[in-house]
Amino acid sequence: MKASIRAISLILLLVSPLGEARVIPDTTQSPAPGNEGERAPLSQAGYSSAVNYQLQCLGCHLTNGEGSPRNGIPQMAGFVGNFLKVDGGRAFLVRVPGASQSALNNQQLADLLNWMLRDEGIAGGSAPEHFRPYTGEEVATYRKNRIKDLPEFRQGLIDQMKAMGIQIPKGAMPPP
Ligand code: HEC
Repeated sequence: MKASIRAISLILLLVSPLGEARVIPDTTQSPAPGNEGERAPLSQAGYSSAVNYQLQCLGCHLTNGEGSPRNGIPQMAGFVGNFLKVDGGRAFLVRVPGASQSALNNQQLADLLNWMLRDEGIAGGSAPEHFRPYTGEEVATYRKNRIKDLPEFRQGLIDQMKAMGIQIPKGAMPPP
């Protein structure tokens, strides 16, 4: 019995390189038409905010900003706009590491946040009416400074919201 397993393994070992040949990259293969150039870094790629979100944020925040509160990713859907209503919140949205340390340039990050904060977007009407859109220059100034104690700082913003009577959904308060 053992011997036959060994024999089968040997056969599998011998045939597997052929079986996998299709997935081994062919270094002599030419790129698909239109794809010949070197790939531009994301900061120069010119993708839409929706695509930039998919590439840089969706992995944690999920498709509609629902996040994964059980894993410490707060829900942004229908809530994130409230940060614009409190002192320090406007800079906070830029300074969170996921945003500030992304591969996006300042203008792309400004555009992405504005896209998220639209009523039809992830913010879902939680942003103040006629909020002033972020500009690339504004993002640049916030981005330079890191938040020292992020959980405590964030809690301070949430406390300000509570004092204003803003409802805090459970998903916006992930366990520490
Ligand atoms: C590795 C996971 C991860 C990625 C990727 C990520 N984020 Fe986050 N994000 C978080 C976590 C965790 C928080 C909660 C605050 C903190 O601890 O940083 C957060 C908070 C935020 C907040 C503030 C909302 C709140 O309730 O605190 C914004 C705005 C935000 N992220 C935007 C973005 C954007 C824009 C991107 C993509 C460019 C992005 N994030 C990518 C994990 C991530």
